Amino acid sequence: MLGPPGVGKGTQAKLISLRMNVPAISTGDMLRAAVEAKTELGIKAGETMKGGNLVPDEVIIGLIKDRLEMPDVANGFLLDGFPRTVAQAEALNNLLAAKNMQLTAVLAFTAPTELVVERIGGRLTCRNCGAVFHQITNPPKSGGTCDVCSSRLTVREDDQPEAVRHRMEVYEEKTAPLFDFYEKQGVLRLLDASGPVDVVYAKVEALLK
Ligand code: AP5
Repeated sequence: MLGPPGVGKGTQAKLISLRMNVPAISTGDMLRAAVEAKTELGIKAGETMKGGNLVPDEVIIGLIKDRLEMPDVANGFLLDGFPRTVAQAEALNNLLAAKNMQLTAVLAFTAPTELVVERIGGRLTCRNCGAVFHQITNPPKSGGTCDVCSSRLTVREDDQPEAVRHRMEVYEEKTAPLFDFYEKQGVLRLLDASGPVDVVYAKVEALLK
């Protein structure tokens, strides 16, 4: 899944995983879990993420390489937030080739910038289980706590306006070139992500079928 910060990739990844029974691998979620657990990776990556910068390619590629060794991905998987640079995309091609697997589709989420800023600006995240809510479009039932695990909901540090602006710039510079990269590979599927969650999901489903 490709697309700017806050466009709704994670929301759709969780739905696809649940409804299509396919493991979803989110590098953002993996890194946030490492930050919470204060592992060596988390301590190193935390500051980089807070400022809205990308974690170095070799770290992320290593993370994905290890994850793809796990047995649950043998029949296919969904990647959310990876690859994010041309170097990561090339590494993914190599990893897949070594496993005799092929990239079926790249779902490229698009939406007007104002909408993406609105989505990101209202996001509430559970640091315990990773569930995501929105103050207006998907409010938690109990106000400030997670509907799934009852932990306190917080605003991600990188959802502060200055970090969001920087993430958008980083996205344009480093990640947007992957549209061309995958267009050339013949796997790019553009998807207008501006509707409500279920409408976007229906488009995802149609594209994947
Ligand atoms: P990551 O977690 O991947 O962040 P991101 O790509 O910036 O994406 P977001 O999680 O911000 O947004 P999303 O598109 O998933 O939107 P969501 O579904 O939550 O990465 C974070 C950081 O980790 C990076 O900045 C970097 O430092 C590091 N990192 C991660 N991967 C890396 C990599 N490969 N290489 C290097 N560094 C890496 O939705 C947003 C809000 O909108 C929510 O509140 C949601 O409820 C709401 N919403 C969603 N869909 C809809 C809808 N259809 N209608 C109304 N509201 C909606």
